Amino acid sequence: MKKVPIGVFDSGYGGLTILSELLEKLPSYDYIYFGDNARAPYGNRSFDVVYSYTLEAVDFLFSQGCELIIIACNTASAKALRTIQQNDLKKYGSQKRILGVIRPCTEYISCITSTNCVGLLATQGTVNSNSYGIELKKFAPNVTLVQHACPMWVPLIENNMHNTDVGKMIIKADIEKLLSQNTVIDTIVLACTHYPVIQNYIKEIAGKEIEVLAQGPLVAEKLIDYLSRHKELDNVLSKDASVVYFTSENSDFFDEAASKFMKRTIRSTHIAI
Ligand code: DGL
Repeated sequence: MKKVPIGVFDSGYGGLTILSELLEKLPSYDYIYFGDNARAPYGNRSFDVVYSYTLEAVDFLFSQGCELIIIACNTASAKALRTIQQNDLKKYGSQKRILGVIRPCTEYISCITSTNCVGLLATQGTVNSNSYGIELKKFAPNVTLVQHACPMWVPLIENNMHNTDVGKMIIKADIEKLLSQNTVIDTIVLACTHYPVIQNYIKEIAGKEIEVLAQGPLVAEKLIDYLSRHKELDNVLSKDASVVYFTSENSDFFDEAASKFMKRTIRSTHIAI
């Protein structure tokens, strides 16, 4: 069988924070990244729209030959992953796999909180779905989860406005709103893959006492573990250390922003989806 890359999908640039950890921890594999930047953000969109956009992205990555796709987007993981796994995956063939980013994070949360009170910052879609609350009940029923939606953060980051005075004011106000809900929060989960881009600023506002948790390292660790347990899948993954980028936006736009995020020169291909 021809060996194939791992597909990584996000609504926009956010999944690059996951991809960069995958490149760090699993550098020998090949990856195809697809950012649906032209239709981002997904965060305020309905279930039906997020589901159909995510299915189109999955369809595209499978058409590129991928056997494994990481949905590196919490909103898509929360609103579309389960339905695609249950209803759509079978038509692509038995060996195809799709993994999300919520499970690796909820499995880990109880290991790092000592107050058993965890704050979660995410898109409106992820908060409304209560996917983290539902998953967390399985792994850590004693942890109280305090959620706050930050609907402006993805547009700020996608438009490179997160470092402006207005951007910083909006971000600070959201962190303060989360923390004002419960004084014993000792961990903040960044439950949107865009947010690690502003992780340093979030840490500065949250203060030294609070752990700020990004998902990338957890997703990469879980994937190492998953591939070690699924050798039949690992054996079909190609390992020439390459990355190919696709975007639904203008590729020059994508390349400029993605090169800044990844701190290396990125050349993408536009696809109409
Ligand atoms: N990076 C996506 C996430 O993790 C952002 C969603 C959006 O496009 O609003 O939720």
